[in-house]
This record gives sequence, structure tokens and C-alpha cells, in this order.
Amino acid sequence: MSEAPLKPIPSIEIVTDRLVLRPMCEADIAVTVETLGNLEVSSRLARVPHPYTESDARWWLEETRRGRARGLSEHFMLVPRTGGAAIGAIGLHGDDGGRRAEVGYWIVQTQWSRGYAREALAALVRHAFSTRSPTISILEAKVHESNPASIRVLEACGFLDVDAVVCTSLATGTNSSARRFELRREGFEFTGS
Ligand SMILES: CC(C)(COP(=O)(O)OP(=O)(O)OC[C@H]1O[C@@H](n2cnc3c(N)ncnc32)[C@H](O)[C@@H]1OP(=O)(O)O)[C@@H](O)C(=O)NCCC(=O)NCCS
Repeated sequence: MSEAPLKPIPSIEIVTDRLVLRPMCEADIAVTVETLGNLEVSSRLARVPHPYTESDARWWLEETRRGRARGLSEHFMLVPRTGGAAIGAIGLHGDDGGRRAEVGYWIVQTQWSRGYAREALAALVRHAFSTRSPTISILEAKVHESNPASIRVLEACGFLDVDAVVCTSLATGTNSSARRFELRREGFEFTGS
């Protein structure tokens, strides 16, 4: 039996203690080019080319809009509630059935270790499992074994290490040993704000 076509995903904002998660716009091109141009960031992501140019960021901006229109993915920039430029990004990329989605995120390097990724991921998980329509049943993330900060973020949000996988980095053109993490909606405890 074939699945019903997915509906477009509405643009929303998610507010946390320190952040607003909002859709990407033109104003985010510069910070995206600068951050994804940094190999410390892009080498830990799967599909980011290096060097990373303004046209790559413009393509990505359109891709985030296409993903939302097709009901497949949701992407948010992380902006401090106090104002100023975005300090990171986070997104959900779903499969055709719309019940399973992969999460991805990055934070501007000067803002690392301030708890922003954990705060954003916790909010995204709550959204995926409760406010989103349709809700997601399984979230997953693939993380290089050499990325302890991201592993820490996933574990802090309740993700479990389920598999060994190999991850490619387009930026470095290498494959590395990685772990696949999963979080299931079933049994998830909705605590905190
Ligand atoms: C991974 C990344 C998003 C983390 O962002 P962040 O905002 O610094 O993360 P947080 O501050 O919320 O949490 C980081 C945690 O890792 C810990 N950590 C940082 N560096 C670490 C290291 N080298 N070894 C072990 N733990 C480390 C921090 O102490 C913190 O844990 P704590 O909250 O228990 O103290 C950021 O480093 C990044 O953008 N990396 C490049 C892109 C990337 O890796 N994306 C994820 C791909 S799966």
C-alpha cells in the first residue's frame, strides 16, 4: 500500500530559554558561509562541500524551502533571543513515510560549549514528537566517533547509541567510523520547557 503524499510543513518559530529557532533567510547567508567554510565544522558534517561559497549557501536556503514545501524536512537557524546574528542551525530530514527523521546541527565555533546545541536539540525533539504534524516516531543521528561533543549532546537529549556505521564527509572526501544514535517517541518523557 502506498503512503499518502506528505503535506507541506508550515513555517514556525520555536522559542527556548536563550534561543529562537526560526527558518533560514537571506540575512543568514553570511554566517552560514563563514561557519560552513570552517573545516572544524564542515569536516564533521556529511554533505557540506569545501570550500563553501555564497552560492552553496544560497542553494541551501532554497533547499530548506523545497524540503519544507515537500513535507520532507524542517530547518531552523538558532538566533539569540537577545538579538544579533544566528549562532547555529539545526534541522530534521525525514524519509518518504514521514515517520522517521535524521537530525543535523552546527554551532558557530566561537559559541561552542555554552550548551546551545543541547538546548536547540532538546527543543527540536519536543517539536518532532509533539507539536509537529505528523509527529515523528524515530529520530536518528549519525556522528563520527571522533566527535565527542556531538555524542555528548545526543546522549544528554536521551538518544541511544544503536549501531556502527561509516560516515562520509564531503568536505574532506573521507569516510570515518561513526555511530548511529536513535531516540524513539514511544516511551519518551516530555519534561522541562
Ligand atoms: C557538536 C556541536 C554542535 C556542539 O555544539 P555546542 O553548542 O558546543 O554543544 P553543547 O555546548 O550543547 O554541548 C557540548 C557538550 O560536549 C562536551 N564537550 C565539548 N568538547 C568535548 C570533548 N572534546 N570531549 C568530550 N566532551 C566534550 C561539553 O562539555 C558539553 O557537555 P556538557 O553539556 O555535559 O558539559 C559543535 O561542536 C559543532 O558545531 N561541531 C561541528 C558540527 C557538528 O559536529 N555537528 C554535529 C554532527 S553529528
